[in-house]
Amino acid sequence: MELVKVTTEYQPAVALVELNRPKELNALNLQVMRELRDALVKLDSDAEVRAIVLTGNNKAFAAGADIKEMANQGAIEMLKIDQFKTWDQIKKIQKPIIAAVSGFALGGGCELAMCCDIIVASESAKFGQPEIKIGVMPGAGGTQRLTRAIGKSRTMEMVLTGRFISAEEALQFGLVSKVVPVECCLQEATKIALTIADMSPIAVRLAKESVNKAFETHLDQGLHYERKNFYLLFASEDQKEGMTAFIEKRDPDFKGN
Ligand code: CAA
Repeated sequence: MELVKVTTEYQPAVALVELNRPKELNALNLQVMRELRDALVKLDSDAEVRAIVLTGNNKAFAAGADIKEMANQGAIEMLKIDQFKTWDQIKKIQKPIIAAVSGFALGGGCELAMCCDIIVASESAKFGQPEIKIGVMPGAGGTQRLTRAIGKSRTMEMVLTGRFISAEEALQFGLVSKVVPVECCLQEATKIALTIADMSPIAVRLAKESVNKAFETHLDQGLHYERKNFYLLFASEDQKEGMTAFIEKRDPDFKGN
């Protein structure tokens, strides 16, 4: 069975990637993560695709790394398997990824949502890093990305007590960009993806890269990186098209050149 479903036909330029392990609440075992990595890498090099929506189902976006798969492993086996190495490649995807999150986004599920560029949550979404309750701690970015997203005190509370937060809290904390009714979640994420798909793909790529730099650099380095990317965009035909279209009071037609 395919544990990750990819649809590229239903909306031009926007690919839908669905985690498909419903009985296990989309627990992220090695196979899911490999399939997800392969799907995203392929879409990243598909010139037709300009944005990606990643989703689960109404009960779970993903309930974390697969506890049953890990339970009996020793440290050296964990080190050798290095299950999080697939995540390094996911982090390098250049196209924007919008997560549509309903139900549980726990442990690795919350961390996967945070690897995406924008999170749209439905009213049923629950975010958490409950690893502490099973005697471990987050291992795929939870202590780092959550802290950067919502601050130290809230992260400490979530990571040290394992408490889940609601979609409304996640919105208030700045973890997600909007909360919508369950039935609108995928549609809303797709709407955002379609809007991005109309922009210059080169500008989108460099803008994503630049925002992500904010998490990795000092302010001066980040500003320098941003400025270089801004100047670089003046080498693109899309920059000429975008600015000319503005002056001529028409919609731009970005070709990705
Ligand atoms: N790994 C493996 N299986 C899981 C799973 C997980 N993370 N989460 C759920 N499942 C399985 C359950 O074992 C169950 O399978 P069976 O029917 O075979 O028993 C099935 O999915 C349905 O789950 P529940 O019956 O538990 O459903 P529920 O509605 O009663 O509870 C839940 C839902 C609160 C999400 C609960 O399943 C739960 O607490 N899951 C674990 C959450 C968790 O601890 N996640 C962190 C994992 S570690 C991690 O992610 C490390 C990291 O940093 C990457």
